[in-house]
Amino acid sequence: MPEASPSTHGIPAGEAEASRASREAVSGAQGETLIGPEGVRYTPEPLPEVPPPPPDVDPHRDRYTELNLARLKEQGFVTADASRNPVSEEFRMIKRPLLANAFGQGADLVRNGNLVMVTSARSGEGKTFTAINLAISIAMEMDKTVLLVDADVGRSRVHEILGTPMGPGLIDLLLDRDLDVGDVMIKTNIPKLRVIPMGRYHPHSNELLASRDMERLAQELAQRYPDRMVIFDSPPLLLTSEAVVLAGLLGQIVFVVESSRTLQGAVKDALSMLDTSKPIGLVLNKMRNPFGGRYAGYGYGYGYGYHYHHDEPAAQGPAA
Ligand SMILES: Nc1ncnc2c1ncn2[C@@H]1O[C@H](COP(=O)(O)OP(=O)(O)OP(=O)(O)O)[C@@H](O)[C@H]1O
Ligand SMILES: [Mg+2]
Repeated sequence: MPEASPSTHGIPAGEAEASRASREAVSGAQGETLIGPEGVRYTPEPLPEVPPPPPDVDPHRDRYTELNLARLKEQGFVTADASRNPVSEEFRMIKRPLLANAFGQGADLVRNGNLVMVTSARSGEGKTFTAINLAISIAMEMDKTVLLVDADVGRSRVHEILGTPMGPGLIDLLLDRDLDVGDVMIKTNIPKLRVIPMGRYHPHSNELLASRDMERLAQELAQRYPDRMVIFDSPPLLLTSEAVVLAGLLGQIVFVVESSRTLQGAVKDALSMLDTSKPIGLVLNKMRNPFGGRYAGYGYGYGYGYHYHHDEPAAQGPAA
């Protein structure tokens, strides 16, 4: 389904204008008397006004949430009116290689490159913060729609931060083959940002992430929406084996390292579980600001694969 442009609500401005002009040409100016084919004079009925372009959001069909952008901004997230702030700048750097691998020059080399997993070694290192910022950043600036999927089924937080309703979501999509991606997707007031919440509670939700249904869904998202970036806020690699299976289904990995906290050994263990032939980007999160602020932001390392020596003893100090 093609996405409607937000500014024109699905009808390009040029087309709307052309349509109005052609209607005037046919009907004549309002109240004017015209001569019909057999010389009969008549005054055409004014045609009904061209209806306003259909809004992008259909209140009867679509799930829609108005994100509180001011609050998100206060919490340190990228927002439209803060496009030059440090977080926005950092995410501009982070998203560039991801977009290139998904849609640009590297795209042919990367299978399912539009599906991006945001993960880390353990809990609390900034996956959700990074996934949301990445999604907003791409939705704001690029000509691409973004779908943010809350796939950290054990600690789902996206709905808390964005204020989106839980309702049906990823888990429901995996359990119920009659559901369509569009049925669980929530549109937002960031026109190119859509969200799929985690969905209903299920005692084996982690196992579902590693199921054939998840594989099928990943293929559908990659092929049905090839021009859409799909960002998965995902479980940590060292805590659930299913996260590793999920990593195998998605095209690119953003691996979040919490500065001063994530241990080098944990980073190495987690990365050793990944297929290093796919692009793995490292985000160094919560770097201490040497000038006094709490966080300096992000550092970013990127490459095709991540190379390190298996025989190196795992250092136990923080990664950075
Ligand atoms: N760069 C940052 N600047 C400020 N706060 C941050 C940053 N990164 C993360 N945080 C905060 O740190 C906490 C943990 O981050 P987050 O929830 O994103 O981690 P997580 O890896 O998703 O955790 P979990 O494994 O529990 O899902 C949150 O309160 C978040 O707002
Ligand atoms: Mg999280």
